[in-house]
Amino acid sequence: MDNMLLCNFDAIDRQHERILDLLKHMATADFPDQETAVACLQELKTTTLEHFDQEETLLCTVLSKDEVDNHSKLHQDFESRIVALMQYLARNRMMNRMLAASTAKWYRDHVLVEDKAILAKVRLKLDLKENDREARPAATRPATEPQQVKTTLFDIVGALRRLWLPS
Ligand SMILES: [Fe+2]
Ligand SMILES: [Fe+2]
Repeated sequence: MDNMLLCNFDAIDRQHERILDLLKHMATADFPDQETAVACLQELKTTTLEHFDQEETLLCTVLSKDEVDNHSKLHQDFESRIVALMQYLARNRMMNRMLAASTAKWYRDHVLVEDKAILAKVRLKLDLKENDREARPAATRPATEPQQVKTTLFDIVGALRRLWLPS
């Protein structure tokens, strides 16, 4: 896939690639019959719905409800484009290549702009959370460390005294 589209979440990147491949196929392929075109559109619908579900679940882990809802509205917009493609196919018994191409462009732009931005924010928040989690046990460490240093110094002094002072 075009590196520009990578969002640094492997599973999400793979799903984006699959959806973009299906859209490209719909916009360029010569479907031998209506059934083949319907099967492709059905696969797009299933893959997309699964992807939106997983992406929104990931967003929910660290973002506010409003942020997730705003992104979810964009996904609903895309779902209505799939419905329009299905309706055209049902009426005309053929794929609407122009509509498929504009749907592919919409989706590519969505990944490039909105997904990349929001997933970068998710990555940042997850990293901060992870750093915070790693830093917390260290905060309890100083309570034991001076004690260990004191013991060590005491041991050294004791050892020196035993070496140099007559018993
Ligand atoms: Fe996405
Ligand atoms: Fe998205």
